[in-house]
Amino acid sequence: MRTDTGQIVHLADYRPTDFVLERVDLTFELDPQATRLESRLIFHRREGVDASAPLVLDGDELVLTELRLDQNEMPASQYDLSPDQLVIRDLPGSEPFEVTVITTINPEANTQLMGLYRTNGVYCTQCEAEGFRRITYFPDRPDVLAPYTVTIIADKAANPVLLSNGNFLGGGNYDEGRHFAAWFDPFPKPSYLFALVAGDLGVVEDTFITMSEREVALKIYVEHGKEDRAAYAMDALKRSMKWDEEVFGREYDLNIFMIVAVSDFNMGAMENKGLNVFNDKYVLADPETATDQDYANIEAIIAHEYFHNWTGNRITCRDWFQLCLKEGLTVYRDHEFSADQRSRAVKRIAEVRHLKAEQFQEDGGPLAHPVRPTAYREINNFYTTTVYEKGSEVTRMIATILGKDGFKKGMDLYFERHDGEAATVEDFVKSFEDANSVDLKQFSLWYHQAGTPLVTASGIYDAVAKTFTLSLEQMIPATPGQSTKQPMHIPLSYALIQDNGALLDAPKVSGGQVTGDVLHLTEKAQVFVFENVPTRPVLSLNRSFSAPINLDFKQSTEDLVRIARHDTDLFARWQALTDLALPNLLQAAKDAREGKAISCDPVFISTLLEAAADEALEPAFRAQALALPSEADIARELGSNIDPDAIHKGRQAILKAIAESGQSVFERLFNTMKPEGAFSPDAASAGKRALRNSALGYLAYVTGGTERAAKAFADADNMTDMVQALTVLAHRFPEDAATAEALATFVKRFENNPLVLDKWFALQATIPGGDTLNRVNALMEHPLYVATNPNRVRSLVGSLAFANPTAFNRADGEGYRLLGAQVTQIDPRNPQLAARLLTAMRSWRALDASRADHARAALLEIDRAPKLSTDVRDLIERMLKDS
Ligand code: TRP
Ligand code: ZN
Repeated sequence: MRTDTGQIVHLADYRPTDFVLERVDLTFELDPQATRLESRLIFHRREGVDASAPLVLDGDELVLTELRLDQNEMPASQYDLSPDQLVIRDLPGSEPFEVTVITTINPEANTQLMGLYRTNGVYCTQCEAEGFRRITYFPDRPDVLAPYTVTIIADKAANPVLLSNGNFLGGGNYDEGRHFAAWFDPFPKPSYLFALVAGDLGVVEDTFITMSEREVALKIYVEHGKEDRAAYAMDALKRSMKWDEEVFGREYDLNIFMIVAVSDFNMGAMENKGLNVFNDKYVLADPETATDQDYANIEAIIAHEYFHNWTGNRITCRDWFQLCLKEGLTVYRDHEFSADQRSRAVKRIAEVRHLKAEQFQEDGGPLAHPVRPTAYREINNFYTTTVYEKGSEVTRMIATILGKDGFKKGMDLYFERHDGEAATVEDFVKSFEDANSVDLKQFSLWYHQAGTPLVTASGIYDAVAKTFTLSLEQMIPATPGQSTKQPMHIPLSYALIQDNGALLDAPKVSGGQVTGDVLHLTEKAQVFVFENVPTRPVLSLNRSFSAPINLDFKQSTEDLVRIARHDTDLFARWQALTDLALPNLLQAAKDAREGKAISCDPVFISTLLEAAADEALEPAFRAQALALPSEADIARELGSNIDPDAIHKGRQAILKAIAESGQSVFERLFNTMKPEGAFSPDAASAGKRALRNSALGYLAYVTGGTERAAKAFADADNMTDMVQALTVLAHRFPEDAATAEALATFVKRFENNPLVLDKWFALQATIPGGDTLNRVNALMEHPLYVATNPNRVRSLVGSLAFANPTAFNRADGEGYRLLGAQVTQIDPRNPQLAARLLTAMRSWRALDASRADHARAALLEIDRAPKLSTDVRDLIERMLKDS
């Protein structure tokens, strides 16, 4: 299964390797340009495999230095070699044998950030998904598991810290100023979980006592001088370890758990066994430099990578088609963790906002694919929001369908059956089936059918019979390669809200399976009848977003107001407020496009302001209510012929109308919502800051907005408030002298802090309007712009492309050309980063005709580049297909 050739890999072609890998012994002699790796692999031929079958090892741009079989130099006639593959013939029938592969690697020349590379003078590895083959020839696939011994030899002065997976065996001085360290990882693992880090790093240490009272050393490695900023990450780690014991019964297994923060990293973080490597953005935080969102992200990602120790490492994936087995499940686990640590409802609202903005968009365009795909050309392109976030939603639905105890039973059986194995999605589902004696065959379609189901609902109340009849119908749109679909099992949480606002208690329902407050829609069309309903009820459906669907349910303003006021499910209240906002925003976009006056329903405004002012509601919830659907959300609702300028203009008018009606509410919130005492990143304090800053944002639409924001910026004593005030200034008053002054003050104060500089670039890249393209071009020439640092590129180019609809979609197509130029420029250095940026164009077909033409032209221009990576080529072809 070679994947770096651009050939398509099919799930149906899976078969186990011919040779079983028993042990791995690696010795690295580190050198910035010429690292020598001696890899000793013990194999035996799998039972039943033909004696003539050769051993095939994967490589990627490798240079072989030496090759031995059982310690004897291998004759050249015994193997075939290329930079991408090593094939060895004439190997023993059933006896174990040892292959020694010596490769020479140049970490400094590795700009892809896959394999062994250097970041700020530190040696670091990234092996998922297929990076290990850039280090040595190896059966680089997740179903090849072995224990690893790793010895690292390096210059002692430059590299006092030498780390790898597992437990520390020992170390000492070597020759010529060099020293060594040896590590042993007893838990069999696939190569993608291998890690090595070496360099001169500071460390923060702590300990954790596990549920069986073993002491685990905890170490977080950061650049010298940044130790104080790792305190929150350490705290989050200890809370994660405790939570996994309490909620999933999972105990940590090694004597030591390490995290290393690096500044050049393609993704968020990596769960290498016992040695997680993190993008430093998700480790470092203090009140002066980190926002509340940063703290929340750190908590979530620290938890995510830690939770992988069981869901991903102890039980790994048989092949990369099973990626959701570890990612969807682990996202579900980190979501649940954050919900328990913070406010469950507010967490759910944020998750759903993200799911709809990212995954629903992916699912509705040319890159749509099932949670468990059946073919890929470049696996790096399948680390998607569908695999991660929809994968998590599918896991959540299993929990909803089976209930808390049933879900726990299934998880326990999964751990019991598959610990130490490389498993499949089928194994996972079967554990839930067997533990609960249920059939999840229809439910499994969620793994196999792409596309966001559309559920249409309508209800009729019969005042004589006292019945409420609910008709539901499901439709799953066609997606690439899947034109027809089967009806799915869709669990819908519901409530019937009575005139007095109370929920009808456990009504009798017929028409299909109902468990507790969940209706199970399993047919294409289905009718549920509720009996003994005294008065016409208001139906609240898909509460807590129990299923990841689009819901088409025409409800009157009064009904939505009733839900917004009375549902006991806070998520449903937020959803109702959103459903009240959307028609106003859609109409405003239409009116803006036609040059008509824009108006806003006063009932919506008063209901929103009532929620904003409601002291009984937590401030974080009120802030979420005030954050109206985004321009991208409105575009998704429109679906086609999208004019981002009209959407922006209409939305601005609605915001202004709300600000004018609610000025006194917003002034009061701005003046009172200040957390007491010293800064604390806890959820309640963060919620108050969010609500206060939301008020500041609305007040920018009434007189005195600039002065108020400038003062808020000057008064800010934490990064959340400072960035929010600066964003209000830059986004609302980009040409004002106060804005220029604040931007200059900010960059001067934080010029030595890369993570804060990222915010400075990002907030300028997201200033609405076409002029921002000029600003972005100028910022690319700024001395502080670092075109080789992924975080910096994402903060400028990524923010423009993903988070600035009006600038990116400028009518003359210049935004698409800018992105295209960046993609072709970055691709030769770092294909993963280039490909990720390119996905910003995944919804190009939904644009109005003129913009779509410009977008297609920009894609074709990339397509014409002389040499494209498989990553970019794969995306371009899928995005242009059938056009
Ligand atoms: N497995 C990582 C996670 O926790 C994802 C990841 C990190 C990754 N680095 C990567 C995936 C590089 C592909 C390439 O989700
Ligand atoms: Zn993950």
